Amino acid sequence: MSKKQFDVLVIGGGPGGYVAAIRAAQLGFSAACAESNPYADPKGEPRLGGTCLNVGCIPSKALLHTSHMFEEASHDFADQGIKVGTPSIDVPTMVARKAKIVDQLTGGIKGLFKKNKVTMLPGHGSFVGQTADGWDIKVGDEVIGAKQVIIATGSTARHLPGIPVDNTLICDNIGALDLDAVPKRLGLIGSGVIGLEMGSVWRRLGAEVTILEAMDSFLGAADQDVAKEAQKVFAKQGLAVKLGVKVGKVTPAKNKKSVTVEFEDKDGAQKAVFDKLIVSVGRVPNTDGLNAEAVGLKLTDRGMVDVNDHCQTNLPGVWAVGDVVRGPMLAHKAMEEAVMVCELMAGQAGHCDFNTIPWVIYTSPEIAWVGKTEQQLKADGVAYRAGKIPFMANGRALGMGAPTGFVKMLACAETDRILGVHIIGANASELISEAVVAMEFHGAAEDLARICHAHPTMSEAVHEAALAVDKRPLHF
Ligand code: FAD
Ligand code: NAI
Repeated sequence: MSKKQFDVLVIGGGPGGYVAAIRAAQLGFSAACAESNPYADPKGEPRLGGTCLNVGCIPSKALLHTSHMFEEASHDFADQGIKVGTPSIDVPTMVARKAKIVDQLTGGIKGLFKKNKVTMLPGHGSFVGQTADGWDIKVGDEVIGAKQVIIATGSTARHLPGIPVDNTLICDNIGALDLDAVPKRLGLIGSGVIGLEMGSVWRRLGAEVTILEAMDSFLGAADQDVAKEAQKVFAKQGLAVKLGVKVGKVTPAKNKKSVTVEFEDKDGAQKAVFDKLIVSVGRVPNTDGLNAEAVGLKLTDRGMVDVNDHCQTNLPGVWAVGDVVRGPMLAHKAMEEAVMVCELMAGQAGHCDFNTIPWVIYTSPEIAWVGKTEQQLKADGVAYRAGKIPFMANGRALGMGAPTGFVKMLACAETDRILGVHIIGANASELISEAVVAMEFHGAAEDLARICHAHPTMSEAVHEAALAVDKRPLHF
């Protein structure tokens, strides 16, 4: 049998990989995508969608939505005169709903592959060697030829030595999304994005949540104004975040029903017993098993594939995108890089602006930002003007019962160009898009200030923040 040959072979079918395969096909390349994850679909083939669709963005947001509704029904409906009694949560139904959404979306990508004539290759991909016109890649037991290769193998949860993750008692993101009941006492190690999102889900459903964080500061990557507000609000909600923690011995009980965590913080040595423990201390790139060393593929000291701003590796015709390369581990960043790479391969002007990649944390209130934080501007010695508007001054927010938080806009003092926008509040995830568009167009605060915003909407707070940069807000 002759060797299958493609113009483009993508290794990994997550947001970076499946988008690369589709865009490559749209641009006229013959494209294939190898995927080897263990989440089998009804046909027994690996599901597409990677971490994001199977055990990341989508399932976590489904659980965040259900738990948010539960919390509203439990605590907020009564304020609006809605009487529902005391709601209860059926965790298996919540988890089954989440699984159905995952099925629908992962199946949908298979459909998109068919529509775009992308060949799905079930199996683990690894480099065999260079050929006269590209690369030989082993997928499963078969060797496939490709003129160009895109590595999109993503990442997996980082585990800590001495903390045995079994995804039953001690979980990473995979088990955390599949608990079968609300734990009475939930511990989380790491108060990053997963810690806050998953901690929120299970706290809303009734768990007593303690988050143990190594750093002395809370949400160090966010604007410190936002981080401070978030810390205050989360503490009020009952998320107990302990900072400056050194986690010591972790001992599962013999019956595997609880786990004891020894740790030290400013109050000295302590012990806590949890019914479930979630380890959320960051992620590591998937480069093992690519046979990278044998073909001379350069990795960074952190094990990521080393790439330039155009996602080119040190090997000719080999590119890498998404979580497996430098930059934020976000699905939309992976997709953006994927499109850029395919357009560059097609001789077009592929482009990715790393300064305008938005961040969103889907807690309640939501947290979203784009561009520079105030502390970064100060550290860089950039002169800026800030405009800050609380949602308390926004009619729609009050009507929705969501007066918490604010919009803060930072603009260059000299040119008025928007340098960063930071939002904490309901729907921040949607509101941030306006700031991203403005920044992509190199917009000034005055540009946003002169644009008519629908009334009453939360987006009026973005408008007012732009006016506030020039010290002339109309409603605050
Ligand atoms: P992945 O999605 O990890 O996909 C890589 C794929 O490659 C996997 O399917 C893997 O099985 C496959 N693979 C690996 N090696 C091989 C090989 N050798 N051969 C064949 N296949 C291989 N990001 C957001 O932007 N928003 C969110 O709300 C968000 N929420 C998240 C929530 C959680 C709990 C987690 C864990 C992550 C979340 N993320 C979120 C991050 C997001 O999931 C990742 O940034 C994104 O999935 C990265 O895409 P990727 O294609 O680079 O890698
Ligand atoms: P993270 O990098 O966001 O946070 C990890 C946290 O763990 C940090 O605060 C770190 O200081 C802390 N930590 C590290 N080692 C520790 C230790 N030994 N003891 C105590 N604390 C320790 O990583 P997380 O939450 O695991 O998420 C991984 C990635 O997945 C995120 O960085 C993000 O890229 C992506 N993600 C994105 C989401 C979104 O966009 N809404 C949601 C969830 C995940």
